[in-house]
Amino acid sequence: MTSKIDYHQLIQKDKIHGSIYTSDEVYADEIEKIFQNGWVYIGHESEIKEVGDYLVREVGRSSVIMVRDKNGLVNVHSNRCTHRGNMLCNETEGNKRNFTCPYHGWVFNLDGELMDVAYPGGFDKPLDELRLQTLTSDSYRGFVFASFKEPVISLDEHLGNAKSLIDRSCEMSPTGKIDLKGGWVRQRFDANWKMLPENDTDGYHVNYVHQSFVMAIDSQYGEFVGTEESIQGVIKDWGNGHTEIDFSEGYAKTLDWLGSTPEKVKSYVDSMHEAYGAEKAEKILFDGPPHACIFPNLFLGEMNIVIFQPTDTNSAVQWSTPMFLDGAPELDFKLLRQSEGALGPAAFLLADDASIAERAQKALLSGDPWCDLSRGLNRETTDADGVISSHMTDETSNRGFWHHYRKVMSGEG
Ligand code: FES
Ligand SMILES: [Fe+2]
Repeated sequence: MTSKIDYHQLIQKDKIHGSIYTSDEVYADEIEKIFQNGWVYIGHESEIKEVGDYLVREVGRSSVIMVRDKNGLVNVHSNRCTHRGNMLCNETEGNKRNFTCPYHGWVFNLDGELMDVAYPGGFDKPLDELRLQTLTSDSYRGFVFASFKEPVISLDEHLGNAKSLIDRSCEMSPTGKIDLKGGWVRQRFDANWKMLPENDTDGYHVNYVHQSFVMAIDSQYGEFVGTEESIQGVIKDWGNGHTEIDFSEGYAKTLDWLGSTPEKVKSYVDSMHEAYGAEKAEKILFDGPPHACIFPNLFLGEMNIVIFQPTDTNSAVQWSTPMFLDGAPELDFKLLRQSEGALGPAAFLLADDASIAERAQKALLSGDPWCDLSRGLNRETTDADGVISSHMTDETSNRGFWHHYRKVMSGEG
């Protein structure tokens, strides 16, 4: 079905129309085109280590269960009983041998097969006609993505160049694996979900919205208070809606991103040298983790993993958890405290961003609806892989997000 919304009119090269954030019609359309069709991030394999471990996540308007089956494989099922549609799992995580529906007691195994119905005498359909809906899923380095409809492109194609961003997150660990064992904080925003990925790779707002944070800490952020010329970070559009603020150019020394020194975390530094060799380990430890959004709903937030969950036109929930590193448990305590300090409910960064997003949502409902998005169009560069870069404060990342969004919403990709 072609949409009657003209996304090429609403999203132009240098500006977007505010109704893209406030229209119920647009919201319904993107639930169908982005969240019910195409790759959406669900969870990480480290969250379901044992057979029967499961977690429940929301994809658009649908709830899904990600579970490790008896063969150790990860499945993603619709969290909806095939009898009369009751929700199978209410809890957000746990371990089960099978899923029993609370309404009339139908039993599904971890693969989604219907195994048993209560009082079978009145029921003569073959059980295999009523298995759970299982989504198409695939993973990259433990990051599990799924799609309700058969995806037109593979996960590999969807991630494209941005696989290197996930590689960078994983390579912060000496074993090459992250471990999401810290539990999740969920924060509700009274703003459209797209404000979250847009803001998280917006390098222009940091010195204004997060001024108290910038002034309070002695780290890389302190370096870019000042003139435009003194700001060293780079903004990047990786293609397919994936975007990044690359802070590494602005770091002054190894482990700036951790607010630490090699002496203070010696066993971590030693294990990185052992795993990657001195040269590569030093580069990883200097450059730090990525600060990047993977379209549509995953944020590699340096040492945090964040999920964006749309809830309706004017609200969204942001999930966050510390990105613990397999093979480096000595960092867990610091990373947990830093995550709480950045993204907890009373934290420096998230509270600021939530307030700004809510103000924007209110303002967009009135007055001149156009938003300018032209900053940096005059100074972008494109490399051989098609990655577009510019000054950290430029809107290259936002344009990258919107360009891909328009393609998806117009049915062009
Ligand atoms: S709705 Fe699930 S068993 Fe009836
Ligand atoms: Fe921010």
